[in-house]
Amino acid sequence: MAPAALTALDARAPRAEGLATVLAIGTAAPDNCVYQADYPDYYFRVTNSDHLPELKQKFKQICEGSMIRKRHMHMTEKLLEQNPSMCEFNAPSLDVRQGILLTDVPKLGMAAAQKAIKEWGQPLSKITHLVFCTRQSVGLPGADYHLIKMLGLNPSVRRVMLYLQGCFAGATAIRVAKDIAENNHGARVLIVCSEITAATFRGPSATGSHLDNLVSQALFGDGAAAMVVGADPKEPMEKPIFQLVSTSQTILPESDGLIEVNLLEVGLTIHIDKDVPRIISKNIEHALTNAFAPLGIDD
Ligand SMILES: CC(C)(COP(=O)(O)OP(=O)(O)OC[C@H]1O[C@@H](n2cnc3c(N)ncnc32)[C@H](O)[C@@H]1OP(=O)(O)O)[C@@H](O)C(=O)NCCC(=O)NCCS
Repeated sequence: MAPAALTALDARAPRAEGLATVLAIGTAAPDNCVYQADYPDYYFRVTNSDHLPELKQKFKQICEGSMIRKRHMHMTEKLLEQNPSMCEFNAPSLDVRQGILLTDVPKLGMAAAQKAIKEWGQPLSKITHLVFCTRQSVGLPGADYHLIKMLGLNPSVRRVMLYLQGCFAGATAIRVAKDIAENNHGARVLIVCSEITAATFRGPSATGSHLDNLVSQALFGDGAAAMVVGADPKEPMEKPIFQLVSTSQTILPESDGLIEVNLLEVGLTIHIDKDVPRIISKNIEHALTNAFAPLGIDD
């Protein structure tokens, strides 16, 4: 009789031979677009805040410092007019926001996924896993479920839904996809990240407090990205673009409370501390050394 451990080992799916690779990439953004140079006028107008010229001046300074040229926004001026609670700083508005996000986050994700699948050029039936990532909407069934239905993926696709990952969403989705692809022979993982700022859009605080709200309003826009990831590519039908050699993650010292995102009645609130750039610049060299040293790169 085989020992129990061996039986368990036999039950494991065969592993891939090589590293995970990126086989295709697709991106999508809403058509509605506002140039950053025009954004302070736009933002203060739609949030009925033109009576706060000093704050507007500060917002201009932040927008200029952001080095961003333009932003794509799902929420048009008309949609914002129809949902005035989203334009106030602190009005209960979660229901309104969720109503928009639950349908539109998967739709934007689908547009990116379709482009990635087209570039990959293989039948949809070969997708074995889905990793869907969004900071914005929370629901069950989630955006992963809706995407499977909308794209017509196999209902038995194994899915992972990642919520509220913040700025490390894309990297987390890639890390999870690499683990899946390398641990399951023949796996083809569709990753989709879809973000619509309808959860976080809000007006300025009239008292001038919460300047970090203005920072997040200046920095974030809407868009989606998708990838197909798999190991042991079947060339020439599949054309690997990048190898995913290694992944890592760490919590920086002195970083407690520096970035906080909370889902409240007023929507998703973002705290970005002024100290974020200092803490990152203090630690970035060490993080890069740890990532590259095992690969023999020390420059
Ligand atoms: C926000 C940013 C684009 C501003 O660009 P900049 O040209 O460097 O301009 P400054 O740093 O002088 O900032 C402009 C004003 O915003 C204020 N400010 C900047 N970051 C702030 C923050 N996180 N919270 C509150 N106020 C902030 C500054 O104090 C300054 O106001 P002051 O003149 O009264 O001091 C830039 O500081 C930046 O990119 N910061 C990092 C953003 C970040 O943390 N990103 C990761 C988030 S997920």
